[in-house]
Amino acid sequence: MPKKGVFDLHEMKRAGEQITWLTAYDYPTATFEEAAGVDMILVGDSLGMCVYGYPGTVPVTMAQCLVHCEAVRRGAPQTFVMGDMPFGSYQVSDEAAVANAVRFCKAAAVDAVKLEGGVSVLTRVKAILAAGIVVCGHIGLTPQSSGALGGHKAQGRTLGAARLVVEDARALCAAGVQLLLVEAVPPEVAAFIAAELPIPVLGIGAGAGVDGQLLIVSDVLGTFQAFTPKFVKKYADLAGVATAALAEYVGDVRAGAFPAEEHCYHMLDGELEKFAEYTKG
Ligand code: KIV
Repeated sequence: MPKKGVFDLHEMKRAGEQITWLTAYDYPTATFEEAAGVDMILVGDSLGMCVYGYPGTVPVTMAQCLVHCEAVRRGAPQTFVMGDMPFGSYQVSDEAAVANAVRFCKAAAVDAVKLEGGVSVLTRVKAILAAGIVVCGHIGLTPQSSGALGGHKAQGRTLGAARLVVEDARALCAAGVQLLLVEAVPPEVAAFIAAELPIPVLGIGAGAGVDGQLLIVSDVLGTFQAFTPKFVKKYADLAGVATAALAEYVGDVRAGAFPAEEHCYHMLDGELEKFAEYTKG
């Protein structure tokens, strides 16, 4: 399948085709996702929790994001890959935001970057767009500021809160973002935004009335076990499969069942006799 660009994603919205989106953090997972035909891959800062075991995304660094983006790009050369700007990489100034967005493009040839926030990050968004980089907004639940939001809580559940989410969406779209992610908001609010805006509005925990869906691959495959948000559908239990396989290996070694004959390298013809002589001293 030819690689999709941002115009193809816009065309999918116009045609009413759902856009599929998953996170990936490493080379093998990226190869699986490309083979599965996913439209977009996000190298999310959720890697802090899913790969590094941090309690949240705040400790994640640019260096970590870049390393994982490079690996994913190698694994999915024909897929739209988005780098997620970690906490601290765009909060300080417009200049720092542009410099860090550029690093994603140079190191990992990403197709877009994503940053969290609405009205509060408009100058950052405009500065990155002015550098010619495709930007995805991220509103609703924004995990990097979950402390200020009172935890990982759904957003937009009252009229007042829903209006703030809608205003963020409108402001980002007016600023020029080409894609928008809405996280953990009521389906009615997300659907209203998707219907109003001309850009693809994708959801995670935002119902079916949007232009596409994102899930975290570690939830989908069942490798992240600390907690499972309500909006997740788990498609496999790789943690269970992996733990069972590893326990079998441990059992085999302890029982002397591994390695077996077929796992051994034998000496070349005639060499074993010479080695026997050698060991006699
Ligand atoms: O980092 C990530 O995977 C994300 C999702 C939670 C939306 O930003």
